[in-house]
Order: sequence, then C-alpha cells, then structure tokens
Amino acid sequence: MTKVKRILKWLLLAAVIVVVVMQFFGPKRTNPTAEASLALESHAQVPANVKAVLDRSCADCHSNNTRWPWYSRVAPVSWFVIDHVNDGREQLNLSEWGRYDKRQQSHNLDDMCELATEGDMPLSSYTPLHPGSKPTADDIKILCDWTNAEQARLALR
Ligand code: HEC
Repeated sequence: MTKVKRILKWLLLAAVIVVVVMQFFGPKRTNPTAEASLALESHAQVPANVKAVLDRSCADCHSNNTRWPWYSRVAPVSWFVIDHVNDGREQLNLSEWGRYDKRQQSHNLDDMCELATEGDMPLSSYTPLHPGSKPTADDIKILCDWTNAEQARLALR
C-alpha cells in the first residue's frame, strides 16, 4: 500500500469514529404531552380545512405532535432539525395555545397569516424534504380567512 493510501485509510477511519461519537451528543428529540385542554382546538374554532393546512405545513415545528423524519436520528443533521423544532415550539406551540393570553393569541394569529403570505413559513429548509408542505395560494387564503375570523372573535370576548 502506498503511503498516500495508508493516510487516506486512517483519515477515513477517523472520520467514521467522529461521526459515530457525534451520535451520542446534541439535543434530544421530544414530543412532550400537554393537556388537551391547552390545545388550539380547545380555545378556537378550527374547521377541518384549516386544521389540514396547519397539520400539513406547520405542526411538525409548532406543536408537540412532530412527525420526526428518519434523518432527525442522524447527527449532525439531527442537531439542526431538533433545534428548529425546539425553536419553533418556543415561538408558537399550537398544542399549548391555552398558555397564551388574549393579546398573544391575537398577535400569533397575525404573524401566522403574515409569515405564510410572505413565504417565510414554513422554513425553506423544510419544504423540499416534505412534499406537499408548501402552502398553496388556496391554503394561505384558508389560513388567513381563519386567522381574521379568530381575531374578530377574540376582540368580542
Ligand atoms: C421546519 C420547522 C418549521 C415549520 C414547518 C414552520 N415553522 Fe414557524 N417557526 C420555525 C422556527 C424555527 C421559528 C423561530 C425562528 C424564526 O422566527 O425564524 C418559527 C417562528 C414562527 C412564528 C413566530 C415568529 C415571531 O417572530 O414571533 C410564527 C407565527 C410561525 N413560525 C408560524 C408558522 C406557520 C403559520 C407555519 C405553517 C404555515 C410554520 N410556522 C411552519 C420553524 C418552523
């Protein structure tokens, strides 16, 4: 074996070891259970077509019911995926909607329509790997009609 080949072999082995060791570090995947009474559906009127849009395009990062893809098990990719989910839940968690006061709920509804309309949500790193998750113009209209209706309902409460 030439010297170069021997060095390459050791480098490859080192890389494999690094990747294996990586698997033991980083954030952990969680699907925390929250009381059903906190869920969006318990506080707002959510028609089936709105729920479908939220489930398809938002729920993986903004609820406790994340459908974890296979690559969320493989570091270092998993670190990014789990970070996005934790970050997303922290900003907006549809499973824990009841924790927000009226003002925050109204603010969230505003942002949901706005970010979807601008194409900022769902994240552009997410949609290519989740076919069908990119909201269509119809989906966005369904979402915004609903956020407007819910905001009007909140204002009356
Ligand atoms: C791949 C994960 C992911 C998906 C899917 C996703 N989001 Fe997000 N979302 C995030 C992350 C991460 C943040 C926090 C960081 C940021 O604002 O970029 C966030 C933030 C938000 C915020 C709060 C912004 C603020 O400034 O307070 C809203 C509202 C939101 N997302 C709405 C949505 C809606 C509506 C959908 C579906 C149409 C959606 N997101 C889909 C990851 C996601």
